[in-house]
Amino acid sequence: MKDLVEKAEAIAARAYAPYSNYLVGAVVRARDGREFEGVNVENAAYPLGVCAEKTAIVGAVVAGYRPGDLAAIGITASPCGGCRQWLHEFGFDVVSFREDDGSIFSGTAGDLLPHTWNLPE
Ligand code: THU
Repeated sequence: MKDLVEKAEAIAARAYAPYSNYLVGAVVRARDGREFEGVNVENAAYPLGVCAEKTAIVGAVVAGYRPGDLAAIGITASPCGGCRQWLHEFGFDVVSFREDDGSIFSGTAGDLLPHTWNLPE
């Protein structure tokens, strides 16, 4: 999944992050091979900003993809706690990101968020 992380790194420059100057990229790969790019988009009202993982997943959803349809995501860095809940919702088999030491981590959404919260049925 190194290729997906490298694609995320290549698009991170398109992030709109004038407040943090922290550029994040994410690329989602659907089971049919289609890919969706995402970057973080910030706002002067700080809490309204959105993470790169979410914008990538939103793009896939707009195109018609649903939980179970998305196989993998590559991210420039470790996903935040809120994004881990999104990754759980969509059931990613593979989540890959660049670690601070330069290596690439790959695991399931469940590896990143054990004891996950689910809406009671
Ligand atoms: N950010 C992401 O895009 N993804 C994460 O998983 C962590 C944080 C963004 C949000 C904000 O625009 C910037 O990084 C600094 O927190």
